[in-house]
Order: sequence, then C-alpha cells, then structure tokens
Amino acid sequence: MSVTKNTSMGELIADVRERVLFLQEMGVSYLAVGLLEAKTDIAKTDVCTANGEKGMADSHNDAARRYPIPEINIPLNSKPAEPRPAPGSRLASLPSLGKRKGSKFFDEYNPPEVESGELRVERSGPETGFHEMSEPTETIEQIRAEIGTDCTRCKLSALGRSQVVNSVGNFNADLMFVGEAPGADEDRLGEPFVGRAGQLLTDIIEKGLGIPRKDVFIGNINRCRPPGNRAPEPDESVVCKPFLLREVAVVRPKVIVVLGATAAQNLLETKTPISKMRGKFHDYLGVKVMPTFHPAYLLRDPHKKREVWEDIKMVRDYLRTAA
Ligand code: URA
Repeated sequence: MSVTKNTSMGELIADVRERVLFLQEMGVSYLAVGLLEAKTDIAKTDVCTANGEKGMADSHNDAARRYPIPEINIPLNSKPAEPRPAPGSRLASLPSLGKRKGSKFFDEYNPPEVESGELRVERSGPETGFHEMSEPTETIEQIRAEIGTDCTRCKLSALGRSQVVNSVGNFNADLMFVGEAPGADEDRLGEPFVGRAGQLLTDIIEKGLGIPRKDVFIGNINRCRPPGNRAPEPDESVVCKPFLLREVAVVRPKVIVVLGATAAQNLLETKTPISKMRGKFHDYLGVKVMPTFHPAYLLRDPHKKREVWEDIKMVRDYLRTAA
C-alpha cells in the first residue's frame, strides 16, 4: 500500500494489522525498526524469527522495510501460545489416500513443531481415483512427446503463443500446483509461473512451506498463452486439460493446490466462486484439492495473502500427517 495524503487512518491501520498478522504467521516474533524517515526508501529494519534468527521473513511483503516506524521493538507474539494438539490428532480420522510410501517434504525441510490447521474435507467426484489405479503405464516424458512442441489441437496455437509451456518439477512430488495458462513471461521462457506472480508462488512454496520449488510439480490447465492474457476458453481447455490429468495420474500427488477461480472451477467442474471454495479440501479422483487465490490476484490485493496463508497451512499440516 503506498501512503499518500489521501490514505485514511483506517486503511493504514487495516494494512498494518494485516501485515503484522502475516509476519506473525511466518514465525516472526518481533520487529526492531529504525527511525522514521520522510521518504519511503529502504530503511534498516531487522525481522527476527521466533528462534532469534535475523533476516527477511518474506521478501514479497516488505512493508517493514518500506514503512519504517520510530525506534522500538514490537513484540508480535503478545498472546501466550495455545497448547498444540498432538501431531496428527485432528487428522487421525481422515481416510488414507493409499499413497505410495514415504513423506519427504516436512520431515526433511521443516521443524516438527507447527500449529495444526483445521481440516475440512469436501467430497466431490467419483469414488475411484488416481490412487486406486495400478502403477502408471506412461511417463511424463511420453506425455510431453505426445503433446509435441508445435501442438495445434486448439486455436491458441494460431493466436500468438510462442511455445508450449509444459509442467515442471518433481515427477514424484507430493504437492502439485495448478494454474490456468501461461502469461507473457512463461510464454517467453517456456516454464510455468516464472513472472511476477510466479515469483510470489515460489515464495509461498519456498518461504511459506519450506520446500524447494524444484520438489513440487507445477503446471497449468492450458499450456499455451491466450492472447492479451484473457482466460482460456472452454474449447481450448477441453483439449489441453486431459494431458494435465494424465500427469496427475503419473505423479499421484497427495495434494493439488489449484490457483485462482478459472483453474479451480475448471478442475473441479463447478461454478462456485473461489472465495467459497478456498479454505477447505475438495476431492478430485481421490486427490485432495485445495483451491486458493491466484498469486496474480495477491499482487493486486495483498490483504488476501492472509487467506492464502491459511489455505497453505492446511496443506502443510495435511502433508505432514499423510504418510
Ligand atoms: N498464471 C498462470 O495461471 N499460470 C502461469 O504459468 C503463470 C501465470
């Protein structure tokens, strides 16, 4: 939020509150900040995590650097921490996904003590799904080869796309992210989520979840850029989406995070608004799906980061307990 003469005190307070809550949730325990300066240049502001380490908790949320306030230590954890439930206790009653052995993410990359999020599961779709299927009979490479580098299955091939943008990441990932279609940067570089929104997604994955981006699987429902960044049209998605679903059948992630209304409505075959879908797990052929806001939307409305972080924490907690 840029501070102008017309910025109301109410807006400022709401903005600061939102940012403090977000930092708290990222594990920041207090802020040590420098003197107020007239201009909003970078100031000396340290962000300290709960274990005392200094550093930027969140590079995309740099309010603390841009809006320095007078020399003061601001405790962010004013409330005593609530007792944490035993790991897995809230989730013990959930049906198993019958996943292949071993959960690498959180054992490997995150400390064990985390707040457990509330988990709600909404079921939709057929009962038999990807996890009940026998071993995959194809590979990601075979799927890519079938798509080809000059796919002309839909009209996007003739509407200015420069290349087919395939999914990337770990072909054995527990976690998958699905967007709607490549934008200009992705079209140029040939990789999903590499523009500004992609950088924010990378921060969510690496700083929020503590997982290297290369260890998740990231794809789009459509692999070609729609002109003018419009949403893909149904005739364009209907021919492209099956390739993504075949990839899901190969990767067999435990959770798919689907980003934004267009992708979520397409994947889950619903017209429900994203604001109603997010915040709870849905079932897609036996895979848990968490719809959340698209990172591009977060760039326009950073206040929504809090809701995304809530969704991501639910995903994190689920992955931790689903062995
Ligand atoms: N938005 C998407 O939905 N996908 C991308 O790959 C980039 C931006």
